[in-house]
This record gives sequence, structure tokens and C-alpha cells, in this order.
Amino acid sequence: MPKNLDVNQPKMNQPYMQPGHPMVKRQNPQTVKGSGISLDHNVRLEMAYELDKHNCALHVALHQYNKHHWLSEGAEGFISLHHLLEEHIAKTIEHIDKIGERIARLGGIPTAHPVVQHEMSYIKCEAEGRYTMRDFLRNDLEHEMKLQQELRKQIKRAHELNDFGTVEVLEEVLLDREDLAYHLYSVLEDDTLVRGIEHVFSQPPDKNRKATETTPLQ
Ligand SMILES: [Fe+2]
Repeated sequence: MPKNLDVNQPKMNQPYMQPGHPMVKRQNPQTVKGSGISLDHNVRLEMAYELDKHNCALHVALHQYNKHHWLSEGAEGFISLHHLLEEHIAKTIEHIDKIGERIARLGGIPTAHPVVQHEMSYIKCEAEGRYTMRDFLRNDLEHEMKLQQELRKQIKRAHELNDFGTVEVLEEVLLDREDLAYHLYSVLEDDTLVRGIEHVFSQPPDKNRKATETTPLQ
């Protein structure tokens, strides 16, 4: 069972989170109300709570991907990684929406405050600063693998509780996250098309490097 409201309580209700006018509160955070889905209250509460942790983790992943997209540089990384991470940002936004919608369907409230999101998330933002592209991507890959593990845990649990709607949402998200991790793993692999300039200098001086009909490739 979820531990209701087990995040740092003072952080969930700071003075700066309160606007200057009175608000009518209709539901407390980390609770579920009726929603028309015929699953027990406790099932919806547990599933909404677990989904919310993915919602929080995906927001952390989104912030990290934005940073790494903006800071991508280097001969290999500037264009290709800049665009690759753009795709990761788009997928992450899509997944946040799918999971947020499912939490609402179950009668819950997706956590929206960034401080609380970071508190609840099972992945954390790296320390501020510019690191190497390899460090950025390695951190992203570790986050993706943790996301996969946590998604699989909930898929298994949702099956046990007959929450097949949540299973379907999470299976779609999991398959996409596996793709994203595969992208990152592949760009971190130790292969390259770059062969250096040694072969140019090692050619006999009478040979030029112009392609001809007989040697179209260098
Ligand atoms: Fe951009």
C-alpha cells in the first residue's frame, strides 16, 4: 500500500505556493476521489500514487534532456545529439501527458510543483554545471534504465490488481523508454567512423587523393 503523503510535508505547502487570494480546496494531494472507474478505492489510490512517481521522474528526465539538448557541442555531438535529444524531449512530454491523464482517470492529482516532483522522484537532477557530453548521456541512460525498472514493477502490480487500463498505458510508455535507452546506449558505444588522418600522410607522394573511375572511394 502507498504511504499516503509520505513526502516531505513542509515542502508541499510553502508560503510561496499560496496565491494572495483564498482558494477552495476540493481534494488533498495524494488522495483519490470517485472517477467512474470500477476499481476499489485502495487499488486506485495505490495505482495513482505509483503513477505519480513516474510523473515526477519523467519531469526530472525532461529537465535533464532540455539541459543536455541546449548544451550539446563537439564535432560529433553538436547537430546529431542536439536533434536526438529533441526527440527524447518530445517523447517525455508525451509520456508525462499519458501518465498524468491516467492519474486523473483514477481520481488522483498529478504532482505539479517542481520541488515536490523532485522530492518524490526516484531519479534526481545532476548537480548544476556543464559536464562532458559523455557524462550527460551516461546520466540520461542511467535514468532511463531506472525508469524502465520502476515501470516494470508497476506493470506487474497493476496486473495483480486487475488494473488493465494502467497496464496498457505503462506498457506503451515502457516500450518507448526502452527505445530511448537504446539510442543512448548506441551513441555511447565505442565505435566510430572517424579514422584519423594518418592514412593520408602514409600514401606515396605521387598518388593524389582524387577519386577516379577505377578508384571511386578513398
Ligand atoms: Fe531546441
